[in-house]
Amino acid sequence: MRLEALRYLLLAGPKRWRAEVTGALRGTPLWTPLRTVYHRCRPLWRNPVVRARVLAMRRRLYCADPRSYWQQEGGRQYTQDEEFLLGPGSLTEQQGRFLATAIAALGATTILEVGCGYGRMLKELRRHLDARLVGCDFSEPQLKTAREYLAPVTMPLILADATQGLPFADSAFEVVYTQGSLMHVPPPLDRSYRSELARIASRYIIHTEDVQDSDSMFAHDNERHYKELGHRLVEARPYPLNLAGQTMKFEIFELRNDRGR
Ligand SMILES: C[S@@+](CC[C@H](N)C(=O)[O-])C[C@H]1O[C@@H](n2cnc3c(N)ncnc32)[C@H](O)[C@@H]1O
Repeated sequence: MRLEALRYLLLAGPKRWRAEVTGALRGTPLWTPLRTVYHRCRPLWRNPVVRARVLAMRRRLYCADPRSYWQQEGGRQYTQDEEFLLGPGSLTEQQGRFLATAIAALGATTILEVGCGYGRMLKELRRHLDARLVGCDFSEPQLKTAREYLAPVTMPLILADATQGLPFADSAFEVVYTQGSLMHVPPPLDRSYRSELARIASRYIIHTEDVQDSDSMFAHDNERHYKELGHRLVEARPYPLNLAGQTMKFEIFELRNDRGR
C-alpha cells in the first residue's frame, strides 16, 4: 500500500505541486522569482538525455501497476483537474456529439464504454442516443465519481479490468468504444484488452486513442492486432477534436465474428 502511494506521488506529485504553487503565487511578489526558477529549469528538461532518463523511469513506475495509479488518479481532484473540459459549449459536449453521430450512423442500440472514467462521454451519449448504455472501469474512485456525475441518470457501471476479462457474454454489445483508455495500457497487456473487446462486441469497436508515447501513454498498432483477429478497419483519421498537443486517432473496426475466434 505504501509502495503504491509512493509510486503515485512520484508520478503525479510534481505536476500537481507545480499547478498548486503556480496558482497560489501568481500575482504575488513571489511570482517573479518563481518564474525565474521555472525559466532556469527549462533547459534541463529540454535536454534530450535528461528527458529520456526521467521518462524511462516514470514509465517503469507506471507499468509496474497501472491499476493502482488509476485507483488514486480518480475522484474529486481528478474531475476538478478536468473542469476546463466540461460544461455548456465545452470540448466534452463537442466530443460527445461527434461520437454520438458516429454511433448513430452505425445504427447501434447497445453500447459499452470500456475505461469510462467519471462518465464524461456516457453523459453526452445519453443526451443524443436512445440506446442502452453501460460503462466499465477498473478504478473504484472513477466509478464512484461517475455515479455522482451522471446523477440523476443511472446506468450500469461495472468495476472490471479489461486486460483480465470483462463480466459480459460474447457479443453482448453492438458497439464497444474506448476514449483515452487503451492508450494507458502498457504492452503486452493491450493485446488482452483488445481481444476482450472483440469477444464482447458483436458489430463494431471504436477507439479514440492517442498515438504518442509518454510516461503513462503507449502507442499501439490496433489495426494490426484486429486484422490478426480477423476484423476490419473501416475508418481511421486524426481525431478532429484533439486538445492542443494531443495526437488522438479515431478508428472504427468492423467485427467479423465468424472469423478470428
Ligand atoms: C484518461 S481516463 C479516460 C476516461 C473517459 N474515457 C473519458 O474520456 O473521460 C482513462 C480511464 O481508463 C481506465 N482504464 C485504464 N486501463 C483500464 C483497464 N485495463 N480496464 C478498465 N479500465 C481501464 C482508467 O481507470 C481511467 O478511468
